Amino acid sequence: MTSPEIRAAAAADLPTITEIYDHAVRYGTATFELIPPDLTEMTRRFGVLMDGGFPYLVAALDGRVVGYAYAGAYRPRPAYRFTVENSVYLQPAIHRRGIGLQLLQRLITESEQRGYRQMIAVVGDSANAGSIGVHTKCGFQMIGTHPDVGFKFGRWLDTVMMQRALGDGGATLPAGEMKLPG
Ligand SMILES: CC(C)(COP(=O)(O)OP(=O)(O)OC[C@H]1O[C@@H](n2cnc3c(N)ncnc32)[C@H](O)[C@@H]1OP(=O)(O)O)[C@@H](O)C(=O)NCCC(=O)NCCS
Repeated sequence: MTSPEIRAAAAADLPTITEIYDHAVRYGTATFELIPPDLTEMTRRFGVLMDGGFPYLVAALDGRVVGYAYAGAYRPRPAYRFTVENSVYLQPAIHRRGIGLQLLQRLITESEQRGYRQMIAVVGDSANAGSIGVHTKCGFQMIGTHPDVGFKFGRWLDTVMMQRALGDGGATLPAGEMKLPG
């Protein structure tokens, strides 16, 4: 297989990204959204991530976008500012060919370059072996499971929390931050 090109996402990629996510919302349990967001909403979300300086990547095969990944704020309160939550989605036809792994590895590198210290994956559905597998392969540790916190397609769904340190993790203070005496 041709190896994918991993590059920064551009606004022109959003129609394809919207299609990929539409399928994941309609047929999958990785996301707990129930109604697929349209291009306008996906463009708004992209803008929020770009304004925040977060990494947003696509994987392209022969010039065609087949997957994407981004990191965004884990939670809005400011003490969480060095922690990101990641998302990665591929077209179903190209699962298990190493592309998710390459996207996630590059996302980790780009997040480290921006100074983030922890990455959290909130994996929808404890049966999502693909997501748990790719995160494990990228060095994420299993933190635990929130049982039955989602309800989609007529059944309860768990979320699986996974986490990976970025750069020095908690071993050093973030650049420009000082520990207060006492
Ligand atoms: C999760 C997802 C991004 C993984 O991407 P992928 O390209 O299919 O995965 P890769 O081929 O890169 O797999 C890398 C490693 O992850 C593990 N893995 C991937 N799919 C797996 C599966 N179905 N079962 C078990 N392990 C799996 C394996 O260790 C694999 O390495 P190997 O093939 O050498 O054994 C992709 O399957 C996807 O888009 N799924 C639907 C959306 C989703 O769940 N997104 C995650 C939201 S948190």
